[in-house]
Amino acid sequence: EEPLVIAIDGPAGAGKSAAARLLAARLGLPYVDTGAMYRAVALLALEQGIALPPDEQGKARLVLLARHLDVRFGGTPASPRVFLGAREVTSALRREEVSRAASLVSAVPEVREELVRRQRALGQAGAVMEGRDIGTVVFPQARVKFFLTARPEVRGKRRYDELAKQGVKADLEAIVSEIRERDLRDSTRKVSPLRPADDAMVVDTSDLNLEQVVEELLKLTHQRL
Ligand code: C5P
Repeated sequence: EEPLVIAIDGPAGAGKSAAARLLAARLGLPYVDTGAMYRAVALLALEQGIALPPDEQGKARLVLLARHLDVRFGGTPASPRVFLGAREVTSALRREEVSRAASLVSAVPEVREELVRRQRALGQAGAVMEGRDIGTVVFPQARVKFFLTARPEVRGKRRYDELAKQGVKADLEAIVSEIRERDLRDSTRKVSPLRPADDAMVVDTSDLNLEQVVEELLKLTHQRL
């Protein structure tokens, strides 16, 4: 039987990560966070002083970073951890400047090519894989595809609450406009723009809590199998 790949795509703050992790745990599948891979390249780029958006030389350096990226996923579904080699980068990857840098890094076709290759290898034995282009590019043959969305205000509020929980006081308006800007860039870029696959099931999570989202995804998954 074909390994089961479940693709979960959608804009920032749609609730993909939490839902994807729980869905993976319930189905006994590995969870792959592809955004963390773009974020990891972005973190290294910032640390190495590579200007973004990159010039030609910067692009070449980014591709090398992607090629040699030693990203590892650990922890539990309830508290996942990300490592670069032996160094834990879980919270560093969530920083706002890293979010922004990841979006710029991910617009470089050669960086995408490199990371997509790794994502295919990570998911080939079955996975719940989360990102922007999983159903359209990484696993267009995935048996189950979801596109999660939510109203921008709701997504901004979720991000705001997440930061507040970490003790970071943020500006809600600024977060909402940053989210809109990132969505626009992700959906209008030339390579692999954010869009639902033709055969994706679109789920609006604006008025659902996490448990309800997971129930819905499980129900729809079983209907597809
Ligand atoms: O999902 P997350 O917010 O961690 O992703 C960070 C950024 O990485 C996104 O804004 C997007 O630009 C990029 N990304 C992507 N393709 C993916 C996953 C993430 O372009 N499959």
